[in-house]
Amino acid sequence: MKDILTAPFVKEMMDTTANMYRLGWDERNGGNISYMLENDQVAEYLDLNKVIRTIPTGFEAQSLIGKIFIVTGTGKYFKNVKDDPETNLGIIRIAEDGTTAELLWGYKDGGRFTSELPAHLMSHMARLSVDSENRVVIHSHPTNTLAMNYVHPLDEKKFTHTLWEMCTECIVVFPDGVGVLPWMLCGNNTIGEATAEKMKEFRLVVWGMHGIYGAGKNMDETFGLIETVEKAAQIYMLTAHLPRINTIKDEEMVELAEAFDVKYRKDFLNL
Ligand code: 13P
Ligand code: ZN
Repeated sequence: MKDILTAPFVKEMMDTTANMYRLGWDERNGGNISYMLENDQVAEYLDLNKVIRTIPTGFEAQSLIGKIFIVTGTGKYFKNVKDDPETNLGIIRIAEDGTTAELLWGYKDGGRFTSELPAHLMSHMARLSVDSENRVVIHSHPTNTLAMNYVHPLDEKKFTHTLWEMCTECIVVFPDGVGVLPWMLCGNNTIGEATAEKMKEFRLVVWGMHGIYGAGKNMDETFGLIETVEKAAQIYMLTAHLPRINTIKDEEMVELAEAFDVKYRKDFLNL
């Protein structure tokens, strides 16, 4: 059996959490990541018959039965993952009943998965129903995205349109736009269900005055989606109080979407 600390998926979790902390997006225990793994890949490092303990999830994840995820722990700080992955991360498998997580590795101090597991696993189910290649869900509190929530209408057409206007490549990176939820109580099934509903349509969902969710095929794509929104939000926050004398026009966005051959939300433009 190979050493789990050398597994590429553990390294990806360590690198991504460290990077997000460095960017200031994930203060204290802010943010969480879940990453669906291939069972064969995990079997190179762990005995899949050895369950350390079981933890109820509090919701049904029928379509994820038998699936394995590496997930950040609740109350754990992204800044600490790199130095102690076995305490700050866990590898769980969804048990036969669909409502229990079997701990295969990690949460060494008796901890458990993120309090946002409902939003994560429900988002995985929603994304997998429209894209069988989806593997990663990331939640974060990026500074400018959050700042923008206080000064810009929380309307998904308007929010997406403003972000698309801020950087030329935005419409190419997230042509499907950004879903927006109003402020809601976090860490429960209700916000999980609302997030998953949006995830059927969007790979990015803003949680009003809280943060953002991104979903994608791998860590780079998912991180890159959030990073691009955050960059656009930064440009917005740097310019929102200044007179705007230039802008990317809707006709130019169409030109971009056509040149890069992306399927974009035409109804989010004002043509
Ligand atoms: P956890 O520490 O439970 O992952 O929660 C952090 C967070 O960002 C809640 O939305
Ligand atoms: Zn949060």
